[in-house]
Amino acid sequence: MQTLADKRILLGISGGIAAYKSADLVRRLTERGADVRVILTSAAQEFITPLTLQAVSGNPVSHSLLDPAAEAAMGHIELAKWADLILIAPASADVIARLAHGLANDLLTTCVLASSAPVAVAPAMNQQMYKNIATQKNLATLKEHNFHIFGPGVGAQACGDTGAGRMLEPLELVALTEQLFSPVKNLQGLRITITAGPTREAIDPVRYISNHSSGKMGFALAQAAAAMGAEVTLISGPVQLATPAGVTRIDVQSAEQMHQAALSAAVQSDIFIGCAAVADYRVAEIAADKLKKGAEAEMQLTLVKNPDIIAAVAALPQQRPFTVGFAAETRNVLEYARQKLLNKRLDMICANDVSASDRGFNSDDNALSVIWRGGELDLPKAPKQQLATQLITLISEHYKN
Ligand code: PMT
Repeated sequence: MQTLADKRILLGISGGIAAYKSADLVRRLTERGADVRVILTSAAQEFITPLTLQAVSGNPVSHSLLDPAAEAAMGHIELAKWADLILIAPASADVIARLAHGLANDLLTTCVLASSAPVAVAPAMNQQMYKNIATQKNLATLKEHNFHIFGPGVGAQACGDTGAGRMLEPLELVALTEQLFSPVKNLQGLRITITAGPTREAIDPVRYISNHSSGKMGFALAQAAAAMGAEVTLISGPVQLATPAGVTRIDVQSAEQMHQAALSAAVQSDIFIGCAAVADYRVAEIAADKLKKGAEAEMQLTLVKNPDIIAAVAALPQQRPFTVGFAAETRNVLEYARQKLLNKRLDMICANDVSASDRGFNSDDNALSVIWRGGELDLPKAPKQQLATQLITLISEHYKN
């Protein structure tokens, strides 16, 4: 679909290993109808060549402020005025710092300063550099200056570290770019509460029971809902994700804490979405001290049921929000999901087949079958950001009807 038809995107590529993904990003943007022009910083040219980007974009690539030939073709001020959006991906810590301080010491930063177009940056750097207080302050400054911050993702890094700082995948960046251009602000005035991530049920001071939920699906929903104008409260279990712009986040650990936070938020919400993977059971008595290994070959833990959060929300006698659940299943997916829709008295449920490793838990992609009384819709496999926009749109349509 030509979702970016005639949109003029100035793609700034700075130095970082993620620059190798930029050619694919250009291809994905042009596939959707965008006209893409590329600026490379000098460091970026160590990772990807102008020729590659010229071939995929179909446009000349600029890299120097002082190149008379390039200035004669399309000068930097012209380029800055031409853009509907400046997207910087990957955005290194250095470029982020320079942008935060208004420097104009190369073609890319000069164009940003000389442009009135919105600017989105996709941070990409080592996790420690990302966590560094200087980088965090620079990103906060960019947010204050109305820059859009796309990501970063969390996971294994080229340097061998693991953590936040990976550039989002090209398709995720495309989905966020599409959201920027079609900000369907039709959720303005709606209050949406979303639960995300796992819960942790303590066994003793150092051990717990949990699951593989990364929070990506719930956070993508929060981001999509906020982008469409909703007032979003995100109740999150322990995850390593940055809070989406404009979203109010409440961090919890256990199911009981999530239960409490969810009920308080639900009565003030129009829509409640339970995406969290809540532990069904917790340990009956949390040991005060670390449990010691004994001589016995076996050990028994007594578990007690946790409150069913979403069922409690759906059973609210007053101020009950439109309630949407998820059902993570490895077999009989649709059948179990339909049972949960009825048993928990939900308005809608998203059946999530989590038997494959390329979707669901801790993956960047997902696929859902959305079920409500009287209808079903399959949302095929796609990046979670893209799916989130589709799902929030569907939920809002049903809420309004
Ligand atoms: O976080 P990610 O890595 O991105 O992965 C996303 C996901 C796979 C976790 C997500 O898409 C998903 O399927 N979430 C629901 C996971 C789950 O716990 O499903 P369930 O079938 O066990 O629970 C059914 C519903 O009841 C869910 O809405 C759940 O939030 C809710 N529930 C469950 C138990 C409980 N005690 N309280 C609840 O509210």
